[in-house]
Amino acid sequence: MDMRRRSVLAAGAAGAAAVLTGGAKAMAATQTATAPAASSGDVPWANASLRDLASKIGFRIGTALDPADLTTPALSAIASGQFNVYTPENEMKWEVVEPTQGNFDWTGADNLVNYARAHKAKVRGHTLCWHNQLPGWLTTAVANGAYTKTQLLDLLQQHIFTEMGRYRGKIWQWDVCNEFLTDSNPSGVNQNDWWIVNAGAEVIPLAFKWARQADPDALLFYNDYNIGGEDGSNAKFNAAVALAESLQQNSHIDGIGIQGHLDTQYGWDAQRLRRDIEAFGNMGLKVAITEADVRTFIETTDAAQTPTNGLEELAQPFEYSELLKAALAVPACISFTVWGFGDSESWVPGFFKGEGYADIYDVNLNPKAAYYAMQSDLAFAAYGAPDRNS
Ligand code: G3I
Repeated sequence: MDMRRRSVLAAGAAGAAAVLTGGAKAMAATQTATAPAASSGDVPWANASLRDLASKIGFRIGTALDPADLTTPALSAIASGQFNVYTPENEMKWEVVEPTQGNFDWTGADNLVNYARAHKAKVRGHTLCWHNQLPGWLTTAVANGAYTKTQLLDLLQQHIFTEMGRYRGKIWQWDVCNEFLTDSNPSGVNQNDWWIVNAGAEVIPLAFKWARQADPDALLFYNDYNIGGEDGSNAKFNAAVALAESLQQNSHIDGIGIQGHLDTQYGWDAQRLRRDIEAFGNMGLKVAITEADVRTFIETTDAAQTPTNGLEELAQPFEYSELLKAALAVPACISFTVWGFGDSESWVPGFFKGEGYADIYDVNLNPKAAYYAMQSDLAFAAYGAPDRNS
């Protein structure tokens, strides 16, 4: 996966999110155990959780979770206190749920679904059909020519029916197909994708058709990076529109997941992200920001993930804020999920050499500037600024 180019996002919709009525008194939102204490000079919403602010406008704020987040008290307090939609970072991927053929391990996925229910949160299922994190028994057999295309499609159908069937009625949004589009210009379905090569182009519409049958109430998403607000040609957005149109005609699709993995070293077009979200909305689709994080170069000699350039500490929260404001400005966008909340747990340092500082809490689980930027964006979206007219 090449995510060196910047994904998403945008928005100069700050204004839109901030126009509003209602005075500061209305902002007495719930205090949470994880928010820092207010001083007497704080704004009234200083202790409001992200999830409570989002709830005021029918929006949801989410995070990816891994098993430790559910069982480590300090992590769980933030997960349950701040977020109300959860995505299993890895626990619903095929390699995890069926490590050997016909032997299933639902432990992690079950725990997460139960945790969500206990904390009055929803679940984004992730992900059913992706070239990555497939079980070794499957990729080895395919490499050995053990299956025809039809047999491989049968296995995928079985996988979708089994996993979606187990959680039928318990998943809000499912990422059915993930990262099928090329990063080239023009973009399109990647003909070298593992699924396209081994199962044929019909794998995408079939996966959505089977998903629809398996859980008619779940919202079915196509999820990818760089499909909204991309600087340059925005070719991948155009390819996502074409793919969604063909699924609307030949199969089924409910929504587009814009991942939102950003890096402060790259440019991106904030206004374009909002317009791209609107364009998907105008097609009758829901939109979700599904995997937001903003990485930057860090001092690798300290454990604190200190950015190498002080300006990055300003760029990082700014980009989170622009992403969120674009999402808030468009009613079709129903949720905003960060790909983990603490820098210590982030996937970034392991995948991008010398980079980190990507999350909204620091390595000691203290909220960073990005947290406060999101909190104030949500507060303005929910309540508006105090009215001076009177
Ligand atoms: O569980 C094994 C462990 O037993 C083993 O000791 C260890 C050694 O490396 O690996 C562990 O598995 C790792 C797994 O995460 C769980 O931590 C894999 O190596 C590692 O590759 C895997 O990375 C995940 C990555 O997807 C795989 O492509 C990241 O956690 C996860 O955040 C990332 O998420 C993806 C989304 O699903 C799709 N969009 C992009 C996003 C970021 O890459």
